[in-house]
Amino acid sequence: MADKHLDTILEESRRFSPPEQFTKDAHISSFAEYQKMYKKSIEDPQGFWDSVAKELHWYKKWDRVLDESGAPFYKWFVNGKTNITENCLDRHLNTATRNKAAIIWEGEPGEERVLTYWDLWYEVNKFAHALSRLGIKKGDRVAIYLPMIPELAVAMLACARVGAVHSVIFAGFSAESIRDRVLDSQARLVITADGGWRRGKVLPLKGIVDDGVKECDCVTDVIVIKRSPGEPFPCHFQEGRDHWYHDLMDVAFVPHQPEQVDSDDMLFLLYTSGTTGKPKGIIHTTGGYMVYTYHTTKHVFDLKAKDVYWCTADVGWVTGHSYIVYGPLANGATCVMYEGAPNTPDEGRFWKIVERYGVTVFYTAPTAIRAFMKWGDEWPKKYDLGSLRLLGTVGEPINPEAWMWYHEKIGNSRCPIVDTWWQTETGGILITPLPGATTTKPGSATFPYFGIDAAVLDGDSKETNAGLLAIRRPWPGMLHGIYGDPERYKATYWSKWDGMYFPGDGAKKDKDGYFWILGRVDDVVNVAGHRIGTAELESVFVEHKDVVESAVIGVAHDIKGQGLVAFVTLAGSVEGTPELQKELFQWVAKKIGKFALPEKIIFSADLPKTRSGKIMRRLLRDIAEGRALGNVTTLADASVVEELKNKYEEE
Ligand code: WT7
Repeated sequence: MADKHLDTILEESRRFSPPEQFTKDAHISSFAEYQKMYKKSIEDPQGFWDSVAKELHWYKKWDRVLDESGAPFYKWFVNGKTNITENCLDRHLNTATRNKAAIIWEGEPGEERVLTYWDLWYEVNKFAHALSRLGIKKGDRVAIYLPMIPELAVAMLACARVGAVHSVIFAGFSAESIRDRVLDSQARLVITADGGWRRGKVLPLKGIVDDGVKECDCVTDVIVIKRSPGEPFPCHFQEGRDHWYHDLMDVAFVPHQPEQVDSDDMLFLLYTSGTTGKPKGIIHTTGGYMVYTYHTTKHVFDLKAKDVYWCTADVGWVTGHSYIVYGPLANGATCVMYEGAPNTPDEGRFWKIVERYGVTVFYTAPTAIRAFMKWGDEWPKKYDLGSLRLLGTVGEPINPEAWMWYHEKIGNSRCPIVDTWWQTETGGILITPLPGATTTKPGSATFPYFGIDAAVLDGDSKETNAGLLAIRRPWPGMLHGIYGDPERYKATYWSKWDGMYFPGDGAKKDKDGYFWILGRVDDVVNVAGHRIGTAELESVFVEHKDVVESAVIGVAHDIKGQGLVAFVTLAGSVEGTPELQKELFQWVAKKIGKFALPEKIIFSADLPKTRSGKIMRRLLRDIAEGRALGNVTTLADASVVEELKNKYEEE
């Protein structure tokens, strides 16, 4: 993937300067202005972020902007007291924003709901009151497993209002994944729904939660939101533990005063895959995250009062946390939220939504763009996309071809595109064009955001043209550790170079200083913008009674960017039948979730290994991508790869 991508981008010579029409009203309206602000933010980061933070509401001002004494456990806005919901909700009630749509929601079957800022404030206050009546208090962990309905945002904000730590689990995860996450965070409460719509079917979310929490003694309560009016979708109800959301809301009061939390208090946990079998609970705290998502949302999406902003991500991933919920609401923006699939009932669904609500800013992922390309230009052509003024992409490197299609067919060659590079860990966007200022090159995330000291380094921390991406100093949106594992936090992110952050991506910097992100350099595969650790999947395979060993690799995939291929060695007498193959697919769906399914499972009597027993994944990738085999001299048994190559080609 990386090699192929590198070849294409090296040939990329197209340039797109911000359209005059756009620049005229943009918050940041020239490259010179960006450079001036950037310089200031790097020369005096504390001064820069101090003045940004002052735009927000604090109960008590911070003593210092940044405390580096416990590095890499940095502290931002030290001793500041705030509540993010005060900034996302209450702050807007004294202005015209009070009556403005905060969330315009559309369900997959077609229902529409609009919540104004007042409505959202009202719901969040009531639910916060309900949570405190259940005894949920500051610091408690609350797992949230919901479809994309407004109550997902309400639940997160209500947790934040009482100072509880939410841990949103994407509704595509399996019961066992819920169990692992609930146990790791010791969540007391799980918030779910009777069901949610996806591709014309109802996902039985409550049933999945019931299975997931069976072994979780820490869970004392489960709150169930009824997805639709009328009878609930069939689900089991456990007296004493389970509560209907609407029953709790009926007896809850407003206003419910926000808890005054410390900058450094945890806002949320979000689990993400790493290079080991165990997902990491990424910790985000309050102050720095709030300031950073507020500021990036405003400038990267150039938000204005009249914008209708739509980020198509699921709130179950960090994109939804930062750029559907916290960042846009802190800016008083109107957000579209859509529950279902992009091709239900047909492939025009997204464009119909853009037309219906007059979406002005649209933010999606390269994998979605490639799917739209495959479905054909006729779908966007059926709708009026004239309201759009800015497009964004995130999740993986975007190939220039998809970038151009997006630019021409969706943006009608007049909307800037912001290709935003960031991660669960970074909290917000770190490398990105500013739409009114930056001349873009298709496939490049362009330049670092304010205060971001990004560089491409070699192993000795020397700058190079092609190497590893590094962030050379802390930034406000940064993660604040891995839950329960401070050592892993230091080892994973802060020990490649002295005092610098290592995100795990390869990158290139061209002669004009543009950053080109090349993809992961560790054993993390980015499947349709979802991060999956190969080690995580391998450990799932070997947990199966018939499997003794497995190697999982990422391979290039036309739509998903990367797909997974699993090589599996079975126990002695077990035969690799099609039934067993099917069973193993189901096993992965059960252990992680369907989105983690490999493209192929290949049974192989042996795996190519070095003499010291290390699996040579590079050779497996060569086989899977149909390349000539690389150097095989270090193999313990060279015949293994030949056999495997033949087998793979047969399949
Ligand atoms: C990984 C982070 C950021 C929210 C969604 C994914 C890749 C992300 C880009 C981009 C090239 C990108 C990186 C990164 N990535 N955005 N614009 N260009 N690569 O969050 O699951 O934490 O994954 O996604 O490899 O490390 P995540």
